[in-house]
Amino acid sequence: MRILVCGGSGYIGSHTCVVLAERGHDLVLADNFSNSSPVVLERLQAITGAPVAFRQVDLRDRAATFDLLAGGGFDAVLHFAALKAVGESCERPLDYFENNIGGTLHLLQAMQAAGVKRLVFSSSATVYGDPDRVPVREDAPLRVTNPYGRTKLVMEQLIGDLVATDPGFQAGVLRYFNPVGAHSSGLIGEDPSGPPNNLMPYICQVAVGRRPRLNVFGGDWPTVDGTGVRDYIHVVDLARAHADALDALVRDGRGFTVNLGTGQGVSVLQLVQAFERASGRPVPYDLVPRRAGDVAEVYADPALAQQLLGWRAQLDVDAMCRDAWRWQSMNPEGYGAG
Ligand code: NAD
Ligand code: WQD
Repeated sequence: MRILVCGGSGYIGSHTCVVLAERGHDLVLADNFSNSSPVVLERLQAITGAPVAFRQVDLRDRAATFDLLAGGGFDAVLHFAALKAVGESCERPLDYFENNIGGTLHLLQAMQAAGVKRLVFSSSATVYGDPDRVPVREDAPLRVTNPYGRTKLVMEQLIGDLVATDPGFQAGVLRYFNPVGAHSSGLIGEDPSGPPNNLMPYICQVAVGRRPRLNVFGGDWPTVDGTGVRDYIHVVDLARAHADALDALVRDGRGFTVNLGTGQGVSVLQLVQAFERASGRPVPYDLVPRRAGDVAEVYADPALAQQLLGWRAQLDVDAMCRDAWRWQSMNPEGYGAG
């Protein structure tokens, strides 16, 4: 297939491009580099052995987005392009609505105008908020707790409405749990700008000496060791799910919404210990008060993805830590050192 990958130079998009290229698909990446580096394109070329077709486009620019789609001959669009920082979304909600919802609206309109009718969309476990029970199934109530989450929920609904009205339109909505890790080459990985919001990149930066200690947000949660429990999933497993989702859309028609997780809950301290084993580096930490908006325990029921996509996660927490560390130790300053 000829595939447009919006947000393709970002963390998850870049790993997905590797898998798609390995499966013989023809790719065009599009990104505005608002949260990624052009160096990613060189790294992708080094991994795949071929030049990467790239268009610098901001999805907020309606005309540019129409131009991107027009005459592109795309069989499918993968849509990763979004702002994703929960805290920032609470400070600047309108920017999140404009970028995520506005950008998605332009993309859907441009797809319709160009007659492109197959979409794989990056949603998030954030749409479940604080779930009543774990593991979380796809039919759990949706109740978001912050503007970022609201953008994901609205985008899912926009896509659902389009599917309902256009019989030819197919969408795979993928609700990621907590993506971590990196490609085994160590050439691409997660490179947050500024202090990391998420746990694994913070651990990596402590281990590599960029930050002195990790703050563990809360030791009094009702969990196995008092720290928060999440479903960490290796980004390469996640990437593979996108290729499988495309195949499922081609095979089976209108579409689906599925969780992408391992189904295993892992606590903050369990992840720290696994990382110390994998890296051989100490990760000193302090137990500090809970972070606002956090929940005790969230992990997926991944059965539907297995049933519909034939996909299940294969890489364990040790592999996630080993690969995250390889990336961080080979690129202590991320792509910045380029
Ligand atoms: P990322 O920031 O690394 O990648 C997103 C890419 O989209 C970046 O390269 C950014 O420059 C680009 N982008 C953003 N707005 C754009 C616009 N208006 N026009 C063009 N490009 C734009 O993030 P990621 O971790 O790779 O996440 C990819 C997707 O998965 C996002 O939609 C995110 O919300 C979703 N998601 C991520 C996580 C996670 O923890 N990483 C979890 C669940 C869902
Ligand atoms: C994991 C655990 C923290 C940092 C977020 C978004 C979610 C999704 C994935 C996009 C929690 C603890 C963290 C730190 C810590 N993103 N922690 N010290 O909160 O599950 O999910 O990213 O869709 O929408 O909310 O992930 O990595 O921030 O936190 O103790 O410095 O690590 O309290 O228990 P989270 P996270």
